Amino acid sequence: MRVGWSKAAGLLLVGLAVAPGHETITTKLTWSKEVSRVVLRRCGGCHRPEGRAFSLQSYAEARPWSKAIAEEVLNRRMPPSRAVRGFGELRHDLGLSAEEIHLIADWVEGGSPEGDVNVLPAGIKGAEPGGRLLGLRRAFRGEFRLGGAMTILGVEMGEMAEGQSFKLVGEMADGERVPLLWIEGYSRKAISVYEFVRPVRLPAGAVIRAYPAAGVRLRLITGSGR
Ligand code: HEC
Repeated sequence: MRVGWSKAAGLLLVGLAVAPGHETITTKLTWSKEVSRVVLRRCGGCHRPEGRAFSLQSYAEARPWSKAIAEEVLNRRMPPSRAVRGFGELRHDLGLSAEEIHLIADWVEGGSPEGDVNVLPAGIKGAEPGGRLLGLRRAFRGEFRLGGAMTILGVEMGEMAEGQSFKLVGEMADGERVPLLWIEGYSRKAISVYEFVRPVRLPAGAVIRAYPAAGVRLRLITGSGR
């Protein structure tokens, strides 16, 4: 009986010692130095206490998710965008750069080390993509007719049905059409502000239309233009 117990205790101890650090560290990249800076800036707008998703603000919070983090960024599922690429010119920084993706992936593959906590960044406040876009919000449903010329900086999602899909197009009086945004499967969990690479200036008399229009609720974010 006594032998059995000590054996069991011994196995337990070995298990404890091995489980957390069984991955060999094969990378110089660390959470404290490189990875936290990318994650806080790119993901921290949603992944924070009281944010839209679980917090990824510290090593202790991020470490258990490291494999999932690499998978999400490699497959470009995070940050969660519902815009179809190539329809309208949306800010490329909705997604991570190839360099940022590989930094995260290499860190995870190399065992996700924490590194020296003294080099942790101070005061990086992540915002949701487009969350810092200032401008007058104009809400509309399905269709918006411009009284005068207008400069549009981005489009904010209103309350819509999950899974709703639509294309948003600017139509000039002379028949010219400007693709603005194509949402495939709206989700409350995804990005809510889509920002254009360059402000889109539309003349008086233009109409912004959603196809199909039913149920589409949006807010134009308009600026004074440059
Ligand atoms: C616009 C807000 C937003 C941003 C920005 C964002 N996420 Fe998320 N993320 C979410 C939401 C919401 C969920 C939860 C999804 C769910 O509940 O199904 C999630 C889930 C996840 C998950 C869990 C996926 C799973 O296995 O279910 C991981 C990992 C993740 N995010 C990593 C990241 C990383 C890394 C970044 C930055 C590169 C990031 N997220 C940026 C909103 C965001």
